[in-house]
Amino acid sequence: MEKLIIDGGIPLRGELRISGAKNAALPLIAATLLAPGEHVLKNVPDLRDTRTFLKLMENLGISWQYDGHILKVDATHLNFSEASYELVKTMRASVLVLGPLLARLGKAKVSLPGGCAIGERPIDFHIKGFEQMGVNIKLEQGYVDAEVYESMQGTHIYFDIPSVTGTENIIMAATLAQGTTTIKNAAKEPEVGNLIDMLQGMGAKIEGKNSDTLIVHGVEKLQPANCTIIPERIETGTYLIAAGATGGEVTITDCQPAHLPALLEKLRFAGFVVEQNADSIYLNAGKISENGGAIRSTDIKTMPYPGYPTDLQAQFMALMTLADGVSVVNETIFENRFMHVAELRRMGARIQIDGHSAVVKGKGISGLIGAPVMSTDLRASSSLVIAGLAASGRTTISRIYHLERGYEKLVDKLSNLGARVWKEQE
Ligand code: UD1
Repeated sequence: MEKLIIDGGIPLRGELRISGAKNAALPLIAATLLAPGEHVLKNVPDLRDTRTFLKLMENLGISWQYDGHILKVDATHLNFSEASYELVKTMRASVLVLGPLLARLGKAKVSLPGGCAIGERPIDFHIKGFEQMGVNIKLEQGYVDAEVYESMQGTHIYFDIPSVTGTENIIMAATLAQGTTTIKNAAKEPEVGNLIDMLQGMGAKIEGKNSDTLIVHGVEKLQPANCTIIPERIETGTYLIAAGATGGEVTITDCQPAHLPALLEKLRFAGFVVEQNADSIYLNAGKISENGGAIRSTDIKTMPYPGYPTDLQAQFMALMTLADGVSVVNETIFENRFMHVAELRRMGARIQIDGHSAVVKGKGISGLIGAPVMSTDLRASSSLVIAGLAASGRTTISRIYHLERGYEKLVDKLSNLGARVWKEQE
């Protein structure tokens, strides 16, 4: 296992190119299962999760070639319909094969994801939706064993909470179902929009993109896709927050500022200069020092898109440990997503958890001190990286495989911005 070493206290400066979005790449790869033939996906990030998903595709009988962020998937021979516990336990997004497998083969057996470091994370909405579409589902020995009765039927589906992968799974199944499926209270995340673009390019009939009501008219068959993955908004946000936390000045390129409305406003409120163009964002923390060195304490509340993203909650909390004053971080999406708090405290942060909220008593920009800490999940780990970059002294983060699930070339990208960071064997 590898660990990450950071010698902190250096402001991040320079220009950085953003990779393709993990949470768009995975459903788009799953969607290739819907049509035989060769699909081409561009801007696919080379991440641990991408590799795990490709292993899952291989297990289903699918062949692929992946070179220079271009992924060619030949989905002609779809021979198997099972996703094992071994794969699903390392990556919940494996459940995204359920919809396409049911649509194309009429059956699927996928391990139940179980709990994870950020909470229980059930898939009951996916299951209920498929049942409404005419799928017989048994839960046996930790697996969802699903089989279409006669044919998948369009229906009306309402999500109690807008679920991202739930929406994606149902859309994919509905593209080849008989009749029309309406999804109410659907997720509006940009990654869902990217999937809809791809499916429309394949010949699917979908209305309502970017809205909470999606209407999918089933078609008989789909064509192979040629689609580009959208920029990774969580990676964009993570580097912006890191630049702010270190008092730096960065330009983030090849990103989609329009996908980060809540974060950009929060960063401006906190006192940073943030300028956005069509596909780049400039952040300068210089004004903070002009203002006597104080980051303004700023509350956040995680919400479904376009609200503040839960996947950027831990990173913003790390920033708020450096603010002057008290801020409240309210997590409404996942019940147990404060695993980073104990680790941040090891670096000197003052944070109290009160139910779904964390009260952060900022200690000012020099408030953190490097320490050995442990990664617990993907986004919690990136908050430790931010804290380590901003802290004085050395921070050692163990179990960095979590980070590699979602951040492409993290060490190279940070080094290019001037950070002193490297990997070592544990
Ligand atoms: C996706 C993202 C993840 C992000 C999350 C919320 C992918 C691969 N992952 O996860 O990075 O943090 O959206 O933006 O895209 N829920 C249920 N029953 C269900 C499904 C969801 O109760 O069947 C609840 C969840 O517990 C949670 C909320 O709905 O409280 C939203 O979860 P959901 O959007 O489904 O998260 P994921 O799709 O797993």
